Amino acid sequence: MAKIKSNFICAECGYVSPKWLGRCPDCQNWDTMQQADVPTRPSGSAVAPAKVISLDQASATKGDRLTTGLNELDRVLGGGVVPGSVILLAGEPGIGKSTLLLQAASHLAGEGRRLLYVTGEESPNQVRLRAERLNLPLERLMVAAETNLEAIEALAGDSTDWDVLAVDSVQAVASRDVPSAAGSLNQIRETAARLIGLAKSMNRSVWLVGHVTKEGAIAGPKVLEHMVDTVLYFEGERAYNLRILRSFKNRFGSVNEIGVFEMTDAGLTEVANPSALFLAERPQNAPGSVVVPTMEGTRPILVEVQALVSTSGLAMPRRQALGIDQARLNLLTAVLEKKVGLRLYDRDVFVNVTGGVKVVEPAADLGLAAAVASSYHDRAVDPLTVFVGEVGLAGEVRGVSRLDSRLREAAKLGFKRAVLPAGHADKVRKPGLDMVGVASVTDLLEWLSKTT
Ligand code: TYD
Ligand code: MG
Repeated sequence: MAKIKSNFICAECGYVSPKWLGRCPDCQNWDTMQQADVPTRPSGSAVAPAKVISLDQASATKGDRLTTGLNELDRVLGGGVVPGSVILLAGEPGIGKSTLLLQAASHLAGEGRRLLYVTGEESPNQVRLRAERLNLPLERLMVAAETNLEAIEALAGDSTDWDVLAVDSVQAVASRDVPSAAGSLNQIRETAARLIGLAKSMNRSVWLVGHVTKEGAIAGPKVLEHMVDTVLYFEGERAYNLRILRSFKNRFGSVNEIGVFEMTDAGLTEVANPSALFLAERPQNAPGSVVVPTMEGTRPILVEVQALVSTSGLAMPRRQALGIDQARLNLLTAVLEKKVGLRLYDRDVFVNVTGGVKVVEPAADLGLAAAVASSYHDRAVDPLTVFVGEVGLAGEVRGVSRLDSRLREAAKLGFKRAVLPAGHADKVRKPGLDMVGVASVTDLLEWLSKTT
């Protein structure tokens, strides 16, 4: 008989400890250690030693990828689904995971492949209503409403009639072998481990849907990240229609890819040109509005950064950033105050990136500084200009990564001028795009005062 020994596992980062801890020593989160049962072998049982081979003896087959027909999804996966791979599709409830799966299922069916959709949260009736709303051909979609892991295994292991198995969601499924309730750490690990085994033994792809909350509070997806081949996060602000599919881990492709979708009445539509979408409603000649070419992974996307500088009645004026790092805004207002003498200490400064996009890279600094200065002086910046560059504490403007693709995107969308770090202005050339080099925020303000 195997003895049961207890271990404690951090639900956030997967850290394993033999005893319970109030705080995870690895990720520093409080109250995330949960008990997990680990069967241990009785001592003394004979085990055959592991076998060593040289790599040239290992199998070299790459396997053909299945394309889902959704280009944005295929790209994020690294060019389609690898047979035998296990994909975790994680995201907040209501973001559109089930919708994405159903649309992928329909596309796969169109190519003669079958996605077996196991729904643990919705009834077939609800799935049907959604499919009807999405205008998908119902007879091609196979659905099973099941939350019992053994039943899912029996269904999938027995039938050869599927290419992709999607389990929506991993939190809803429970095994009889595990005493705790569905959604508990033990159940999630058991479900994932057994479905991963199924995928590998049948050499077909299994997709697991996992819910996460904004705080990442629910156990599950974080622990699963270590176990699966690919982790995709489906993100977006619920108030906006934009959805970004991001690859967080991928054993079969780059993690720098994103897929962009728009949630419409007819489901998710692919957005091949996100920049055009983000800039569609940009006000013309409005002070405080500038365009910044940012990178989402390897993909350049132009976004609009807006700033509003207004007189403050507060002893401690507000600095509020939406879609941009608050610390960078604080830093930039300090630099503008100290280096070019903008009187911001009695002004509130609000900054927003439109469309619900988040810009986390320092390359947006120069654009942010230009937006703040533009609103401060109440003078609009030329609408066909983009700004890119990092600003240092001394007010110097520094180079950024992937300048070339950022500027190519700007030229493609019809922009006429790029303001960029002085050191790079004469090195890059893009047809139709004038390069304006600035070495410091002082240069930037001087250029703005001449052109606005
Ligand atoms: P869903 O796929 O159920 O989210 P998840 O599986 O991640 O929980 O998507 C639910 C949301 O999407 C819901 O709030 C309604 C919206 N939606 C649309 O706007 N249009 C549509 O065509 C569909 C099917 C859903
Ligand atoms: Mg769902």
